[in-house]
Amino acid sequence: MKLFESLRKRYGKESRTALEAQRLAHEIAFAPVVFQVTRVMLKAGVFRLLADHRDGLTQAQIATECGLSDYAAQVLLESSLTIGTVLVTDDDRYVLSKAGWFVLTDKMVEANIDFNHDVNYLGLFSLDKALATGRPEGLKVFGKWPTIYEGLSRLPEQVQKSWFGFDHFYSDCSFDEALQVVFGTRARTLLDVGGNTGRWAARCVAHDPDVNVTVMDLPQQLEMMRRQVKGQPGAERIHAFAANLLDPAQAFPVGFDAIWMSQFLDCFSESQVVSILSRAAASMYSDTRLYIMETFWDRQKFETAAFCLAQTSVYFTAMANGNSKMYHSDDMIRCVEQAGLRVDRIHDGLGMGHTILVCRRKID
Ligand SMILES: C[S@@+](CC[C@H](N)C(=O)[O-])C[C@H]1O[C@@H](n2cnc3c(N)ncnc32)[C@H](O)[C@@H]1O
Repeated sequence: MKLFESLRKRYGKESRTALEAQRLAHEIAFAPVVFQVTRVMLKAGVFRLLADHRDGLTQAQIATECGLSDYAAQVLLESSLTIGTVLVTDDDRYVLSKAGWFVLTDKMVEANIDFNHDVNYLGLFSLDKALATGRPEGLKVFGKWPTIYEGLSRLPEQVQKSWFGFDHFYSDCSFDEALQVVFGTRARTLLDVGGNTGRWAARCVAHDPDVNVTVMDLPQQLEMMRRQVKGQPGAERIHAFAANLLDPAQAFPVGFDAIWMSQFLDCFSESQVVSILSRAAASMYSDTRLYIMETFWDRQKFETAAFCLAQTSVYFTAMANGNSKMYHSDDMIRCVEQAGLRVDRIHDGLGMGHTILVCRRKID
């Protein structure tokens, strides 16, 4: 398996001592407890309080300040102490540890905790069934849709907030650099496939006064998109094209200078990706560029990012559609080639770890 060098070091050979490996095994066994305790510590404001009191606070002070019973504060603090998010001083005051600081301040941790609690937690109970059936069995906790995308606009408010928070957190960070890549070559018309709430479309029309952007997505998403972009500068140059791309008969509209797919193809299985890309290819001229922006787990600079992405795959299995994932770049490039396209250029390291594959039609 081809991996970036930073990942090869970690995944190529055993690096843990026996004690570290045993510790990890127990952390896995208690992972749901560790997760919930940490989430509640954050929500109750304990980490924030400790960050503001660097000399530490007693259990009783923490209980009073955070509105917790003594029992609740004790259970949370003793659990957190052994997790490693707080430390205790010789005179029995709790202080925030480095890991606690990251939980409190790292926006990616926040987005991931919200996403895992609100979107995934209950549904992950059905992971084994989802793996066996190839359907998002966990999605039943929210409703009866074939995929989460059909239900996105009707998910409970908090679930929707965490889903969009997670999605936007990752893609928004890459948009500045992505604009340079896409508009480095003239583009007067751009098709944004899976454009969701129109955040990228809005950035494009603000960036280039001459570009017209068409967002292609499921009809219910387009309604949300119209509401979101209304009144923003250049909104009159954002258009909508309703389509369900799981329907193999759904063709792509023709005549765009550029086709943009950001965090889109990970919503589909490999055979569906090939089908969608083949239809995109059929709509392209020889100079049309297709940009695929994805977070490929094998092309991450940091091992922690690869970890987060490989775990995110499991959301697709249990909750989203039962058959897609965060891809290895080799798998995606193979799909691109099977669809009659070729990868012209690769831009790595955008934002939080995005890659853009710039694709063209294969020379006939
Ligand atoms: C993960 S979001 C990506 C949103 C956005 N492009 C970004 O980068 O943040 C995937 C998008 O693909 C759309 N989508 C999923 N399945 C689809 C389908 N069968 N046909 C059309 N669009 C679909 C979803 O509605 C959603 O807007």
